[in-house]
Amino acid sequence: MRIRQTVASGLQALGLATELLHRMRLADARAGIWEAADLQWWWRTPRASDELDQPFWLDGDGPIATALLTDWGHTWGLEPIVVPDVPAAVRSEVWSAAVERIDALSLVNVETLVRDDDEALAQFLRSADFEATDDRGGVTWMDAADRPTVPALPPGFELVDRLGSGDRPHPLAVRNHPTVEARLNQLSLYDPALDLAIRAPTCDVAAYGLFWFDPVTRVGLVEPMRTEAAWQRRGLARALLSTGLDRLARRGATRLKVGFATDAARDLYLGAGFRVDAEDTTYARRA
Ligand SMILES: CC(C)(COP(=O)(O)OP(=O)(O)OC[C@H]1O[C@@H](n2cnc3c(N)ncnc32)[C@H](O)[C@@H]1OP(=O)(O)O)[C@@H](O)C(=O)NCCC(=O)NCCS
Repeated sequence: MRIRQTVASGLQALGLATELLHRMRLADARAGIWEAADLQWWWRTPRASDELDQPFWLDGDGPIATALLTDWGHTWGLEPIVVPDVPAAVRSEVWSAAVERIDALSLVNVETLVRDDDEALAQFLRSADFEATDDRGGVTWMDAADRPTVPALPPGFELVDRLGSGDRPHPLAVRNHPTVEARLNQLSLYDPALDLAIRAPTCDVAAYGLFWFDPVTRVGLVEPMRTEAAWQRRGLARALLSTGLDRLARRGATRLKVGFATDAARDLYLGAGFRVDAEDTTYARRA
């Protein structure tokens, strides 16, 4: 099969990355770190990388690989994504091209997540001056049939979705960008009925979470999830998570996924019935 390369930026790049991650998930139920919805979530705020040409490798059926660069403000993220059955030579070409691009753009602070079972990528990164950091995380999965029951909220708290609360400022606007809702509405996988928040008796938003149903892969993804500091350890995240997972299952999700980067999040997800499938380490290349 002839393999060709192209570049795309902004929403066009996100569309190709979505196609690529769909193909990856349909080929392998557990491969990689990211779902298409993860990358769509990254679109929530304007970034310098929106304008950047991102490389894609394609065969006759569509995208088979990319190495995306994302501007996170304090650092750049590198995401090499390659479908499982790609020839080793193409995989090496994707990784090498990524490092060449980092050098050409003079990026001095770049990070990438590597699954602990992907020694080939870890070895390549070490040879390209990346070093393993202490930042560890992982990916957890659950069959939708095993989702927890939805507990009652503490008295005075109310669960709302974005369909029923669109007249108020979006909860994500505080930590993200004032345009967050407009940007979410540009995404093929965003659903306001799965954009949940819990309001405290004071009417403040105490907790929120976004749930993403992917009709192509039938994976339901949780990202992000937060309880504001003043309202933590009252069972709000557990209630929000259980409600979101139930809505995902009712929408048609057969498998549920969430990633974690902190012990609190890991305990929350394992307590809900998720099981760790892969752990990962952040590799960094600093100036
Ligand atoms: C993780 C987080 C969402 C938990 O919210 P919460 O409303 O306080 O959680 P709950 O009260 O529903 O707790 C449910 C379970 O989660 C786990 N958990 C919650 N906070 C924890 C903590 N600080 N340390 C360890 N485990 C914790 C516990 O297993 C807890 O069950 P328990 O209270 O019976 O022990 C919250 O701490 C938070 O927003 N943190 C910052 C953002 C973040 O890390 N989000 C997750 C990104 S993947």
